[in-house]
Amino acid sequence: MRRSGHQARQGRPVVTHVTDHPIREITEDRERARAAADPLADVCYLVTVASPERAEARALTLRDITDEGFGILINRTSPKWKQLSATDTATLLIHWPTVRRQYRIWGGITPMDASRVNVYWARKNLGSKLLEYYYTTFAPQSHRIASRSEFLAGIEELRRRYPDRDAVPRPESLAGIYVAPREIEVWHGSEERLHDRRVYQRSGAGWVGHTLVP
Ligand SMILES: Cc1cc2nc3c(=O)[nH]c(=O)nc-3n(C[C@H](O)[C@H](O)[C@H](O)COP(=O)(O)O)c2cc1C
Repeated sequence: MRRSGHQARQGRPVVTHVTDHPIREITEDRERARAAADPLADVCYLVTVASPERAEARALTLRDITDEGFGILINRTSPKWKQLSATDTATLLIHWPTVRRQYRIWGGITPMDASRVNVYWARKNLGSKLLEYYYTTFAPQSHRIASRSEFLAGIEELRRRYPDRDAVPRPESLAGIYVAPREIEVWHGSEERLHDRRVYQRSGAGWVGHTLVP
């Protein structure tokens, strides 16, 4: 109501503009955040819907950012996987304080190539690899268990089975996916608090953008 009244008063429509590529902008901002040693440069927050009354958010490692979208690795035994599978959409939040940027990304889910998942698997340390096996050998991710010692006993058993980090095969349960953006909302923080906010929507091969009230 207030917005249309404002437009009528101003006598001009909301301006639509086309940007080359918001994903490229995010990639460049990430490079600057990394150069500034931003501890959140490789972190994003995935928001899923568990039920109409309940959204669930969690931090995840943000892998690659490509034209396909924002790459993350998650285990198929986890609650978030079931939630993603039910809606086939997700929201990602990215915040890089060192460069005063926030991005809110909404989109569909597409699979990551197995070769790409293998690259990330190879980089994981032994503990991380054993953990992936724990989910299918003992209990799914986020499952309640009796105690931490029960968990560590399971990990020790897996360590005996897979002592060599480089020889642990990648389990099928580890999924690589992209959140393929349909909408990207950009927040550029300003010192004066008059932040620059824009929203971009996919339009064919490009993007259409609008300015937002900060
Ligand atoms: C910085 C950070 C990075 C994380 N990266 C991942 C990740 O890449 N994959 C993952 O499954 N969980 C990751 N976690 C753990 C998740 O936040 C979460 O606790 C877990 O995935 C269980 O989520 P769910 O029960 O909602 O499925 C990370 C946590 C933090 C704090």
